[in-house]
Amino acid sequence: MKKILITGGAGFIGSHVVRLFVNTYADYEVYNLDKLTYAGNLENLKDVENKPNYKFVLGDITDAEFINNLFEEHKFSAVVHLAAESHVDRSISNPLDFVFANVIGTVNLLNAAKKAWGCNKDKPVPTDRIFYHVSTDEVYGSLGETGFFLETTPYDPQSPYSASKASSDHFVRAYNNTYNLPVVISNCSNNYGANQFPEKLIPLFIHNIKTNKALPVYGDGKYTRDWLWVADHARAIDVILHKGELGETYNIGGFNEWQNIELIKLLCKIMDKKLGRAEGESEKLITYVKDRPGHDKRYAIDASKLNQKLGWKPSVTFEEGLEKTVDWYLENEEWLRNVTSGEYQKYYTAQYATR
Ligand code: NAD
Ligand code: DAU
Repeated sequence: MKKILITGGAGFIGSHVVRLFVNTYADYEVYNLDKLTYAGNLENLKDVENKPNYKFVLGDITDAEFINNLFEEHKFSAVVHLAAESHVDRSISNPLDFVFANVIGTVNLLNAAKKAWGCNKDKPVPTDRIFYHVSTDEVYGSLGETGFFLETTPYDPQSPYSASKASSDHFVRAYNNTYNLPVVISNCSNNYGANQFPEKLIPLFIHNIKTNKALPVYGDGKYTRDWLWVADHARAIDVILHKGELGETYNIGGFNEWQNIELIKLLCKIMDKKLGRAEGESEKLITYVKDRPGHDKRYAIDASKLNQKLGWKPSVTFEEGLEKTVDWYLENEEWLRNVTSGEYQKYYTAQYATR
């Protein structure tokens, strides 16, 4: 029986990873460690919460003693580390939160894994253990009109969020180099799909269109992102964890660049159709607002290493994925209501605080 620790499993991407692993690997014990910050929601995992190979652990990765004890107790053979503060706008108002969660939290996990696995430079890298660090394409900075981020692109983070993620990536590589810790890193582009907290562009705009609120487009809207359906990111993590080479980095992307304003217009069109509105109705909600400070112009991932070496590719087109996503938010009104009202937090935090 393999014991695997997934951190941040109650969040957006983490919950898709937990579900995939619990449903695919009946012989793994999947531990989901999450602090249940505003972004953590156990409702995301209702369909797997009673499965025998799933366990939830309420805890904070910034608490070194707690993390060390957890590793000592459970002897995990693999860690998939997703827990983080993840929203760029929040990092601009509260950078230190990002240093604590993303940098110190990651180093605590690295220390615990190093100790539990007895790693040091005098011994070969263990091949039956793995520390998988989930990172972002934002560490590479911002692109001009052309070009792509490769695994070899130098780091050039521009926001407090991306600086904290870049720092955590450097620590992961340093632990591999200095202590022979078995690691792998992936850097992924923008995810979208079910269960994303409605502070990020796509779920926020779906919610606002539905409730006839303004759609706040930052700056001129001509910023470009590469969008990937979250279930395809979870599949990529599965493939890299099981088939990736230790010490390597893999870029994950959707081969799918969209300027924000074009994406928003497509979303408005899909929503008009779903809500039975006249075409063009939702677009009237578009409101240009003050730009995000230090806003990165363009991200574009070259994921050909992952494609060629491990055979992964996205499974849906953007139009299909976006339509599925809109359907999910329209069919899961209660999820959105609980999240926007804050109800979800009170219920689960109280439930686990008593254990
Ligand atoms: P999210 O904000 O939806 O979820 C983060 C989860 O981490 C939450 O459940 C939260 O409760 C938990 N968490 C935060 N601080 C914690 C702490 N101190 N201790 C324990 N748990 C804590 O984030 P997401 O969008 O699902 O992103 C997950 C990971 O993937 C992050 O590392 C992020 O940098 C990375 N990533 C995200 C995207 C994206 O488009 N969302 C793209 C590439 C990489
Ligand atoms: O590239 C991967 C990254 O993608 C992840 O590492 C981050 O965790 C994730 O949050 C995401 O970062 P972005 O800043 O690109 O995502 P966000 O949804 O916040 O914004 C997407 C684009 O839309 C960006 O150019 C800013 C713009 N935007 C966003 C919001 C929330 C708006 O114009 N208006 C908005 O209200």
